[in-house]
Amino acid sequence: TTESTRELLLSRIRDVRDYPKPGVLFKDITPLLADPAAFAALTDTLAELCVRHGATKVVGLEARGFILAAPVAVRAGLGFVPVRKAGKLPGATLSQAYALEYGTAEIEIHAEDLSADDRIMVIDDVLATGGTAEASLELIRRAGAEVAGVAVLMELGFLPGRARLEKGLRGAPLEVL
Ligand code: PRP
Repeated sequence: TTESTRELLLSRIRDVRDYPKPGVLFKDITPLLADPAAFAALTDTLAELCVRHGATKVVGLEARGFILAAPVAVRAGLGFVPVRKAGKLPGATLSQAYALEYGTAEIEIHAEDLSADDRIMVIDDVLATGGTAEASLELIRRAGAEVAGVAVLMELGFLPGRARLEKGLRGAPLEVL
């Protein structure tokens, strides 16, 4: 990412204090999405990463990851596969539970959307604890596909997301714009 693109993108992310609960600083990407130049720059940058890392499909993580990953897939000429929160996919799914700060969450994928020939780039807006991304890598591998990498717009540096993801990446790149 060039410095000017990064500056444009970061300038369109709004910090919202105490959302969704007190003490949390929420990174709101809606100003970026509403700016056509910024959204296009983000899409182009992520699409270029997909091509560079030899991806054959793009996985988006519900819900904000969908907004970013779908245009990237079209731009890069790749298929889009959603990873959804449990109970939303109608077909035969693989499920993966993962630990949250309090309790657990579960995400799912349609197993038939991935094959052994696929190399998958996972796209999301934010890497926080890394739990969601790590679980998505498990799903991809369990579906028989290879991981091309993980690309996120932002990393919350004060959280150990990168460290948690490191093992699951098995040498695949983590790209933070
Ligand atoms: C947020 C964000 C990532 C995830 C990051 O999604 O969009 O998907 O959390 O957190 P982690 O690194 O700690 O797993 P959220 O669950 O809020 O869902 P949403 O996009 O549907 O609002």
